[in-house]
Order: sequence, then C-alpha cells, then structure tokens
Amino acid sequence: MSASPDRRTVLRGAALAGAVCFGAAACASGEQSSNRPSSDAPVELGPAAEVPVGGAKLYGAQRLLVSQPTKGAFKCFSIVCTHMGAILNKIEKGQGVCPLHGSRFEATTGKVAQGPATRPLEEVPVKVKNGTLVAG
Ligand code: FES
Repeated sequence: MSASPDRRTVLRGAALAGAVCFGAAACASGEQSSNRPSSDAPVELGPAAEVPVGGAKLYGAQRLLVSQPTKGAFKCFSIVCTHMGAILNKIEKGQGVCPLHGSRFEATTGKVAQGPATRPLEEVPVKVKNGTLVAG
C-alpha cells in the first residue's frame, strides 16, 4: 500500500482551501503560492531550526502549522479551520487562531482550545531531512 488516505485527504484539503475563501478575513492575506501542496507529494517547509522549541510557526503558503513541543520532536497540522474552513492566521500563547469566528487550536496537539470549532485540526506527517522540514 502507499500513503495513508488521511495524508492524501489532508494535503488535498489544504490545497483546495487555498483556492477558496470563506470570508473576508480568510481572504485578507491574499496569499497565493505555487509552493502549496497540490497532491500527496511531500512539501519542503524550510529549516527546522526556524520552529522554536516549545513554540510553533505558521506556513501560510503551504496552509500548515509546525510545532516543536520538545527538542527534535515536530508536529504538523493543516491550518484549515475545522469550523467553516477559514485559514488560521496567527499563533498566540501556543494556540493557532482562526480570524473568522475566533476558534483556537493547541499547536502541539491540534485539539480545540476554544470554539466554535469542535473538531481538531487535521494532522500531517512531518519529518526533518538534512535540517529541512518536509511535510506530507
Ligand atoms: S471558520 Fe474558523 S472559527 Fe469559524
């Protein structure tokens, strides 16, 4: 068997979310990038060292969030809000924040910290290859 359906589903969903805006706030950044995952192919995000230990970083163009709860352990999630599909636009106090209705998600687990969203962010596999984060 090849990649799990979850991985394909998440990356495909992330790519689709980039093409559709669900509200003014979601479209405010106006980001468009050819570096966004459009299939289940792995995507390079950049140097792993850019993600602080105990912190997280948003990769808006790729529609992903990466956190590093402990040194060398990375977690990656889609930043497509599970409420109505807006794109999380910042990390505050260890939580990804949705600008549309204020849902917040734990950057280390993807779990909902504050609604109206009720479902966690979709997790995306991530690894470090030669010092570079590779998602998918
Ligand atoms: S779309 Fe994110 S909180 Fe509603």
